[in-house]
Amino acid sequence: MILIIDFGSQYNQLIARRVREHRVYCEIEPPTISLQRIEEMKPEGIILSGGPASIYEKGSPTIDDGIFSLGIPILGICYGFQYLVHALGGKVSPARKREYGFAELYIKVKSPLFDSVDPETICWMSHGDSITELPNGFRTTASTPSTEVAAAEDEKRRLYGLQFHPEVVHTSEGKKMIANFLFRVCQCKPAWTMKAFVEQAVEEIRAQVGSGKVILGLSGGVDSSVAAVLINKAIGERLTCVFVDNGLLREGETKQVVEVYKRHFHLQLRVARAQKLFLARLKGATDPERKRKIIGRTFIEVFEREARKVKGVSFLAQGTLYPDVIESRSAFGGPSAVIKSHHNVGGLPRKMHLKLLEPLKHLFKDEVRLVGEELGIPEDMIWRQPFPGPGLAVRIIGEVTSRRLSILRQADRILLDEIRNAGLYRNLWQSFAVLLPIKSVGIMGDQRTYEHIIAIRAVTSEDAMTADWARLPYDLLARISNRIINEVRGVNRVVYDVSSKPPSTIEWE
Ligand code: XMP
Repeated sequence: MILIIDFGSQYNQLIARRVREHRVYCEIEPPTISLQRIEEMKPEGIILSGGPASIYEKGSPTIDDGIFSLGIPILGICYGFQYLVHALGGKVSPARKREYGFAELYIKVKSPLFDSVDPETICWMSHGDSITELPNGFRTTASTPSTEVAAAEDEKRRLYGLQFHPEVVHTSEGKKMIANFLFRVCQCKPAWTMKAFVEQAVEEIRAQVGSGKVILGLSGGVDSSVAAVLINKAIGERLTCVFVDNGLLREGETKQVVEVYKRHFHLQLRVARAQKLFLARLKGATDPERKRKIIGRTFIEVFEREARKVKGVSFLAQGTLYPDVIESRSAFGGPSAVIKSHHNVGGLPRKMHLKLLEPLKHLFKDEVRLVGEELGIPEDMIWRQPFPGPGLAVRIIGEVTSRRLSILRQADRILLDEIRNAGLYRNLWQSFAVLLPIKSVGIMGDQRTYEHIIAIRAVTSEDAMTADWARLPYDLLARISNRIINEVRGVNRVVYDVSSKPPSTIEWE
């Protein structure tokens, strides 16, 4: 395994994903990790990530310098490189101006890190300070027009540094450099596969749960579904899944979840049908935050009630993923961690005093999908677009009523049908309909109409933190619009949302 030390770079998760793409397992730890813990982890290599700080800044992150004497290969990236140089007696100087963006990289000497990399290549820079003097034993291996020490190494001690970011796609041969570090320098084996993960996870779940019982809130989304099938594989019927039908789901959703997970995978699945309760609680609520709160609270209540019917449960399972783990503990989490937190509703029943079982907590989303495939979960469940916990309620502006839900469901089904038929479903991060319960005038046949508006939202995104509106073909938009207006009673106008995030959000509420 490879240990990545998180110095706070926005790219540190990207480093981990790049390493795992090469089938080498890695973990990200904060710099406060002890030397003893590092030795216990037995990493084959260590990567020091970049970070926003300057090493001369007060309070900038530091790590036990004993790390440099462990004999483990180390690759420092950006701040990590500067930190390494500074710690070993070199010199880092404050830059007059920040270097940011593409740069031509000239490789000067043969280095294992640059094996089969073009001697003139492109890298991505983002730094303020620069290295002006290398520690004893080091030599410069590559430069850019404005940065003399763009890369350096001490081959004897197996210490390497890159001033640029090999983990971002803009560094055209960055992937190769990371592979070189893993396989040429650290001698890692590409053994991290999802098959191996499943085998190991099954063992670990059995060991952790012993003869206990587990409960899990199944939403039908990728994470909870993969967690459910994996835990079921480990402990069978001692896992009970609870699916809360809050009445805010899309057409046919409950039926599909029951089909797949109860009939096909034989999970112990309890469906709590609470549509009426949710709708009654939502009556008269128009403020988005209030609607979310009502739904969150009601979810917990219904889930707990259902869960209490299962006797002898001691674990609550959740489909928590690695990014949540890293962001929640990072001392340099930055604003992104805060923005995201409200999305992890799901509704933790804290009062139930259950131990947590989180078998996916070291995986990234794309790995979870691969595990799902490995477990035989149908493709259309694994490749589902994200769907928010509060469901269609955040896609009906204002009050949620059963009539409005029915209109939105029909429009949403048409839209998704057409997007799928056009072969675009997987290319889009999300695509859905929003009901605007204001009315506008239209004409149908010879009749004047006065009906609601449907807005179409389709976005592309990597991680939902930013998103761009999708440039859907006009013909497709025309088909969706025609069908919705003709087939859905109560709608006489369709509009397309052309806003990006930020400043807009993906959902309308
Ligand atoms: P926004 O609308 O903030 O959404 O741009 C970003 C992503 O999060 C999803 N989302 C939610 N997911 N519970 C969830 O589980 C929520 O309350 C929630 N609100 C938004 C949204 O669909 C998008 O993928």
